[in-house]
Amino acid sequence: MCGIVGYLGHRDCSDVLVDTLSNLEYRGYDSAGIAVFDAQNTIQTVKAQGKLQNLRNKLEKNGRPEGHIGIGHTRWATHGEPSDINSHPHSAPRVTIVHNGIIENYQELKEFLIGEGRTFLSETDTEVVAQLLDYYYDGNPLTTIDRVMGEVSGSFALGIMFMDFPDRIYAVRRESPLIVGVADGETFIASDVTAILQYTKNYYLLEHDEIATLTKDSISFVDKRLVPIEKELKVADWDKEAAQKGGYAHFMIKEINEQPNAIMTTVNPRIKDGLPNLEECGLTLEMIREFKSITVVACGTAMHAGLVGKYVIEGIARVPVTVDIASEFRYRNPIIGEGDLVIIISQSGETADSLAALRLAKQRGAKVLAIVNAKGSSIAREADMVIYTLAGPEIAVASTKAYITQISVMYLFAFELALAKDTVSVAECKRLTKALQQMPEAVQYVIDTVDETCKFVGSQLITAESLLYIGRGLDYALSMEGSLKLKEVSYIHSESYAAGELKHGTISLIDDDMPVIAVATQSDLMEKTISNVVEVKSRGAKVILVCTDACAAKIKDGIADYMITIPHTDELLMPITAVVPLQILAYYTSINRGANPDQPKNLAKSVTVE
Ligand code: AGP
Ligand code: GLU
Repeated sequence: MCGIVGYLGHRDCSDVLVDTLSNLEYRGYDSAGIAVFDAQNTIQTVKAQGKLQNLRNKLEKNGRPEGHIGIGHTRWATHGEPSDINSHPHSAPRVTIVHNGIIENYQELKEFLIGEGRTFLSETDTEVVAQLLDYYYDGNPLTTIDRVMGEVSGSFALGIMFMDFPDRIYAVRRESPLIVGVADGETFIASDVTAILQYTKNYYLLEHDEIATLTKDSISFVDKRLVPIEKELKVADWDKEAAQKGGYAHFMIKEINEQPNAIMTTVNPRIKDGLPNLEECGLTLEMIREFKSITVVACGTAMHAGLVGKYVIEGIARVPVTVDIASEFRYRNPIIGEGDLVIIISQSGETADSLAALRLAKQRGAKVLAIVNAKGSSIAREADMVIYTLAGPEIAVASTKAYITQISVMYLFAFELALAKDTVSVAECKRLTKALQQMPEAVQYVIDTVDETCKFVGSQLITAESLLYIGRGLDYALSMEGSLKLKEVSYIHSESYAAGELKHGTISLIDDDMPVIAVATQSDLMEKTISNVVEVKSRGAKVILVCTDACAAKIKDGIADYMITIPHTDELLMPITAVVPLQILAYYTSINRGANPDQPKNLAKSVTVE
C-alpha cells in the first residue's frame, strides 16, 4: 500500500525519484507526486492523479523541479478519492511529507487543528500530520517529530522535509515498512529495497518509532527516547534485474516463468541426504513432533497456500490443521495457546492483519513459524522461526511465484512433520522429497506446453460475466487460487466451489452464460468431479477442464468444451503444476479484456493497513 522514496545526492533528484517510484508502483498507483528542494532552498511540489506516467507527462510538460534532495510517493488512497489535491506530498508552511499508512485518530487531530485556526486543502489523514508537525515545530526537527509521534495513532511510514533544513530528510515509521539506503555520497529512503537496487544494495532497516536523519553524506538514527543508536548495515541479496521486466510484456508473466527456478532455489537448500531438513530455519524433528495441532493464518493467495498445506499435512502427517483468514482470526478470540503451532504465510511479510495475528498467537503462548518472502520484514522478524520462500522480488500485484514457493515450503514442512510423527517411512519420505525436487522441470514443461491453449481459452472468456471454479480435495484448494487470480486481474466475477457442494444450491446459477473451470488431478476423486462436469454441462455451461493426461485418457470426448492437460506427477504434488495453467489463463484473460495484469484496479501489492 503506497510507495515512499527519498533521495539526497549529486544526481538530478526528480529523475531519481520518478525512477525509484516506478519500482514501487506495484504498491499503489492511483496518483503520484514529488517534492524537491530547488536552488533557492524552497520546496517545489508536483503531483498528478493516476499512474506514474501522468506525473512523468506533467513533469515533461511543465518542467521538473531542479535539485538534489527530495521525496516522492505513489499512492493507494485510503482517505480521500484519488485526485491531484489528495496526492502526496502534503505540505504545511514549514513542512512537506509523504506518508504510507493510516492515521487512525486523524479526525480528532484535524478538529483540534481547525480549532487552532489551521485550514486543510485535502481530505487525507496525511495532511493532518503535516499540519501537526508544523504546529509543534520548535526549530528542532527531532523533538518536533517525537512530539507528533506521541499524538498520532495508527500505521505510518513518513518521509519529512523541513523548510529550515534544506540539506536533509527525516524518516520515521510505525507498522508501515521503511528502509534507509546508502551509497557513496548518496542516501535514500524507500518503502522497500527493490526501489533502490539500481543505485545500491546497502541499507538499514528502520524499526518502529526510530527516527532517521539523512544528509547526502551521513545517516544517523535515534530511538523513541531520542537516544542515538547504531544500526546494522544490511546488504540486499536481490539483483536489480530481478525487479525489472527483462523483456517480458508484464511482471506477471515474467514471474510465472520464474517459477521453476523459484521452486528450485527454495527447495534444494532445505534437503539433506534426500530428506527435508529445516534445522537452519529453527525447526528440528524433536520440536515439531510435539505440536498437536497447527493453525495456518494468512490473507488472499497466501491463505490459499495454507489450504493446500492443510490437505497435505493432514493427509500424510495426520496432524489437524485449521486454516484461517488473518482478519477473522485476530478478532475471533481463537483457541490457541502453549503447545500449538501457528504458521503465518506472507509474501511481503508486512500484511497488517497477518502481523496482528502473529502477535496475538505469540501473546497466547503459541509458537509462530513464518513462511515469508521478504527478508527482514516485520513478520519475519517477529516470528519464532522463519522459512524464507526464495522467490526473489514479486512485483506483479497478482501473486504467482510466491504462491508456488509457499506451497513448496508447505510440502517440505509436511514431509518433515510426517517423518517426525512416524506416519511415513524414511523411504517414502525420500521418494516424496525426490518428487518435489523434480517439480521445477515439470512446471517448466507445463509453462512451455499450455501457453497456446490458455491464450485461446482466455480469448473465449472475454465476454463472461461470472465463472465457477470447481474441484475436490487438493483440486478444490487449488481452484480457490485459480478463482482469485482470474478475479483480480481480469475483473470477471468468479467463485470457487467444492464440486460436491454444487447441488446444495449453486447449481441453480448454471446456464450457458456461466462457464465452469473444473480441476481434476486426483485419480481417486476424478470420476466424481467428472460427474459434476457432466451435470453442469447438461445445464448449458461451457466447461474448461484442467486435468492430467492420465485423466484425459480415461474420459469420453466432448465431456468438456476445452481441455487443458498437464502431465501426471505424484498426485500429492499436483497443485504445483496444476496452478500454472490457472495463472496463465488469468493472465491472458486480463490482457484480452484490455486490463493491465500487473496493476489491477483498486488493489495494491502489500496491504499494510486493515
Ligand atoms: C495475491 O494475488 C493477492 N494480491 C493477495 O491476495 C495477497 O496474496 C495477500 O494480500 C497477502 O499478501 P502477503 O502474502 O504479502 O501477506
Ligand atoms: N492514508 C494516506 C492517504 O490516503 C496514505 C495512503 C497510502 O498509504 O498510500 O493518502
